[in-house]
Amino acid sequence: MCGIVGIVGRNDATEVLLNGLEKLEYRGYDSAGIYVSQGLNKGSLVKVKGKIADLRAAVHQEDVGNIGIGHTRWATHGQPSKANAHPQSSADGRFYLVHNGVLENYESLKAQYLNDIKLQSQTDTEVAVNLVATLVQKEKMSVLAAWQKMVQLVKGSYAFVLIDRENPQQLYVAKNKSPLLIGTGATFNGVCSDSLALLNVTNSFIELHDGDTAVISSQEIKIFGQKNEAVKRKTYSVTLNQDDLGKGTYPYYMLKEINEQPAVLRFLEKTYLNETGKAVFDSRLLDQLAQAEKIYFVAAGTSYHAGLVGKALIEKLAQIPVSVELASEFGYHLPILAKNPFFIFLSQSGETADSRQVLLKIKKLGYPSLTITNVDHSTLSREADFTVLLHAGPEIAVASTKAYTAQITVVALLAQALRQKLDPDVINFDLKQQLSLAANGIQTLIDQQELIEQLAKDYFSKTRNAFYIGRGQDYYASREAALKLKEISYIQTEGFAAGELKHGTISLIELGTPVIALITDPETADLTRGNLKEVEARGAHTLTIASENLAQSKDQIIVPQIDPLLSPLLTVIPAQLLAYFATIQRGYNVDQPRNLAKSVTVE
Ligand code: AGP
Repeated sequence: MCGIVGIVGRNDATEVLLNGLEKLEYRGYDSAGIYVSQGLNKGSLVKVKGKIADLRAAVHQEDVGNIGIGHTRWATHGQPSKANAHPQSSADGRFYLVHNGVLENYESLKAQYLNDIKLQSQTDTEVAVNLVATLVQKEKMSVLAAWQKMVQLVKGSYAFVLIDRENPQQLYVAKNKSPLLIGTGATFNGVCSDSLALLNVTNSFIELHDGDTAVISSQEIKIFGQKNEAVKRKTYSVTLNQDDLGKGTYPYYMLKEINEQPAVLRFLEKTYLNETGKAVFDSRLLDQLAQAEKIYFVAAGTSYHAGLVGKALIEKLAQIPVSVELASEFGYHLPILAKNPFFIFLSQSGETADSRQVLLKIKKLGYPSLTITNVDHSTLSREADFTVLLHAGPEIAVASTKAYTAQITVVALLAQALRQKLDPDVINFDLKQQLSLAANGIQTLIDQQELIEQLAKDYFSKTRNAFYIGRGQDYYASREAALKLKEISYIQTEGFAAGELKHGTISLIELGTPVIALITDPETADLTRGNLKEVEARGAHTLTIASENLAQSKDQIIVPQIDPLLSPLLTVIPAQLLAYFATIQRGYNVDQPRNLAKSVTVE
């Protein structure tokens, strides 16, 4: 999940690289580096263990040039260190390579081709760059032939960009499974793993396909397909504005993105509901969905949790059976599928490798697919039969917030469209009104930050573990609430079915263990309150988040009343803010938690 930037044909190459890496830092941030060339056999390689700010501090004024490559790393092979940071160079110092992905056969390639080379790092990338050098030196190949040969020899995922010190006028590019785009300009060209990196110099991009290689200079872009044949790829414009990219007045992207949720829901309501309150989607998509005997949600992490909430929405509103699958499991353990299944991929980034491998498999089986994503032209978006966009604006914080509520909203809108198509009278559900209540309700909860900040202090300042519990939609919201708290504050947190605790896990409850209950469903409210009593009897420090129609005097957080089907849109807000404040109070980096990256493009 690393970030890659390259540029050729601009004298401010170093600044373009550093600025681009800063925009990509959310993709991986344990080490970073750049290589810029000042001409034939003259260049600067600067690498650090640490963040882009450390890299910027290590760059000197002579480290300039009009061509360069940069990389910010999320370690896969070899711990975070300067030696393992990219660019990785060949032993003869001629070639410099940045890479995002995992090469499965690097050890066998090393044994077969590089026996006489003493490697300086533990990375698979260093094997790839030395392979190019060896093919040029020993087999007298041209650099392009060696580049394309290396790409054919490696197995696995890669986004590669290489510079040849002896010909510093062009970048060699290759892509397979890991995202990589070419950014085009009038007098320069660039390459990046996410358009955010080059938006300040261009908004015109070319998508590369798996197996493509390319050679780009300031004036020319040559792209080759898997058989090294010249190919043309689609150009598209990215219409993000710059202030979408900054934190504005917020201290962290996560807080900005939490605050953007009411606006996102209102925009989705406007985008997908017409003035009569009817949900409007591509009729071909609705036709295929309506014929499905079963719908399968496939996702990871927070998106998987959104799918858990979406299941009840589609089953209640459209009466179509739904199954929610963890991408990393589903792809390798396909269950007996329904006769005419339909697959919906939920993915904020549209680049999650676990999800993408499933998409490739079900496409091979000839099944229809939809990707619901926040990134247009992303891999999962391009490769599915249909795409529906979340329109949530860039989500930079590693902890996903607005994408989660946007995904639930889009699934609700889709379920409404299916209801309209299949049987308008199946349930009386005024989604337009419910979404407007939800947007206002989210704002009401965001406005209670002071209360929530204090609760974070009261409940989480000393604990090592915590539980969120609930039933039905409250259970599914508990799963997401737990992920928020654990992934940024490092408090071991579980989201648990309230009724299931007493079947074993209640043994973990000790004096002071925080247990947060979500209570929004009249059907099960009393049962969950009973489960709260069970844990309180064993010393738990309980906190209740209840909807106003079910609230009792001692409940700490009251969420405005909306249909229980949509209650996760509200109950997740205090959970997001509790996680945010707990993390701040522990002194950790809210936006860049340890060991994580925003887009997980390796399996
Ligand atoms: C959630 O806060 C995490 N960032 C992570 O679980 C994320 O949701 C997961 O990696 C899936 O990402 P995607 O939505 O981009 O596919």
